[in-house]
Amino acid sequence: MGLTILVIGSGGREHAIAQKLIQSPKVATVFCAKGNAGMKKDGIQLVDIAEDDHSGLIKFAKEHSVDWTFVGPEIPLLNGIVDDFKAAGLLAFGPVKAAAFIEGSKDFAKTIMKKYKVPTANHQTFFDFEKARAYVMKKGAPIVIKADGLAAGKGVVVAMTVEEAVEALNDMLEQNKFGSSGAKVIVEEFLSGEEFSLLAFVREQEVYPMVIAQDHKRAYENDLGPNTGGMGAYSPCPQISDELVKKAVETILKPTVQGMIAEGRAFTGILYAGLIATETGPKVIEFNARFGDPETQVVLQRLESDFAQIIDDLLRGNKPEIKWKKAGYSIGVVVAAEGYPGEYQKGHHIPSFSDLGSKHVYYAGVKEQGNQFISDGGRIYLVEASGDTLEKARQAVYSVLDNVETQGTFYRKDIGFKGIDK
Ligand code: AMP
Ligand code: GLY
Repeated sequence: MGLTILVIGSGGREHAIAQKLIQSPKVATVFCAKGNAGMKKDGIQLVDIAEDDHSGLIKFAKEHSVDWTFVGPEIPLLNGIVDDFKAAGLLAFGPVKAAAFIEGSKDFAKTIMKKYKVPTANHQTFFDFEKARAYVMKKGAPIVIKADGLAAGKGVVVAMTVEEAVEALNDMLEQNKFGSSGAKVIVEEFLSGEEFSLLAFVREQEVYPMVIAQDHKRAYENDLGPNTGGMGAYSPCPQISDELVKKAVETILKPTVQGMIAEGRAFTGILYAGLIATETGPKVIEFNARFGDPETQVVLQRLESDFAQIIDDLLRGNKPEIKWKKAGYSIGVVVAAEGYPGEYQKGHHIPSFSDLGSKHVYYAGVKEQGNQFISDGGRIYLVEASGDTLEKARQAVYSVLDNVETQGTFYRKDIGFKGIDK
C-alpha cells in the first residue's frame, strides 16, 4: 500500500511540494491543509483545517492514517507544530521550534553565525533608537536595517542614505510599525554581489545541498520597485560557480548545523541560506527554516530522485539517495495582482491552461467560482518551464504567459536575465 501524506500550507510552494509527492509511485494519497483550489487539478485533496490548529491537524492525521506530514511555511514551524506532532507519536518533517528559531530571530541567527565563524555582514543589535541612530551616523550609508522578528518580507530596509536608515530605525523602534518583531533591530553592513539561494535537506549533522536558485524579490523589471515575496526564480544559476557553491556548503551550511547541535537546537528539515557572492566569498543575508517560494517551484524540477522517498528516508533514519539532473534549467514566473505587494483587487479571471506539456502551473491565491478559477490573493500563480539552456527555458515560459489573458494582473518579463546575460 502506498504512503498517505499530509502537506501543511496553501501557496505555490506547497503546490509544488504536494505535486512532487503525488507523482511518486510510492505515494497513494496527498492531503493539503488548507491548500488552494488549484491543487485539486493535480489530485491533491484539500483539508479545511487551519495551519495553527495543531490539535485539529493531529486528529486528522490519526484518523486518516497519515504516514507523515510535511510542513511548508515558517509560522507553524515557529509555533512548534513539529514538536506537537512528535509528542503525539506522529512523524513530521521540519525543524522543531527551537531549531526554527534560526528564521524566527535575526539576532539569534547573527549570534550563531558570529559564534561559529559563519561569514556574514558585520552587525550590531539595538533596542534603543538613540543608540542605533548614533551607530548609523558613525557608520554612514549604504547600511541595512532589519527588524529582528518575522515581518512578512517587509522588515528589511537597504538604506542608501543615513536619513533613510534613521527613518527605518524610527519606524521600528519608536513607531512600532512592526510590533514586537521590530522592538529589536539589527543594523548591518551593506554587502554587494550577486544573490542566490542555497537550500539543503538537513538531518542534524547531515547536510544534503540542493541545486542553487536565484529569486527576483523586487516587483518590477530590472529589480525596481518594492520588495515582494519573490516574482520568479530560476535554477541552476550558471554565473555562480560550482566552486563558490562548494565553499558555501563548507563555510556556511556545515558550521551552522554543527553550531545548532552545539546549542542544543539540532536542525532537521529544509535549511535555506540566502547568500550573496561577495568579492571575498559567499556570505549570509538570511536563514530560513523551510523551502523558499518561488525557489521550490524550480528547484524541485531539478531533482532526479524520488522526493517522497528522500523525506521518508530522512524521517526514518535511513540514508537518502539524492540525485540532481546534470543538464538543463528551470524558470518560474509569478503572476500577481496589479498593485501587489501593496493593495490589490481579487476576483481576476485565471486562464484554464490546456496543453501545458512538460510545463507546470503552481497555484497560490486562487479560488473556484463555478467551474472556473478566480484570483483570491496578491500572488496568484506561477508558470514553470524547463529547457536545455536557460534561454530555451525562458522562451518556453514566456510562450505560455505572452499568450494568455492576464487582465488585472502582472508579471516580470525578465526572470532569469542575470543568468542569461552571462
Ligand atoms: P531578507 O528579507 O533578509 O531576504 O532581505 C531582503 C533583501 O534585502 C535581500 O534580498 C537583499 O537584496 C537585501 N539585503 C539584506 N541584507 C543585506 C545586506 N547586508 N547587504 C545588502 N543587501 C542586503
Ligand atoms: N523566496 C524567498 C523566501 O522564500 O523567503
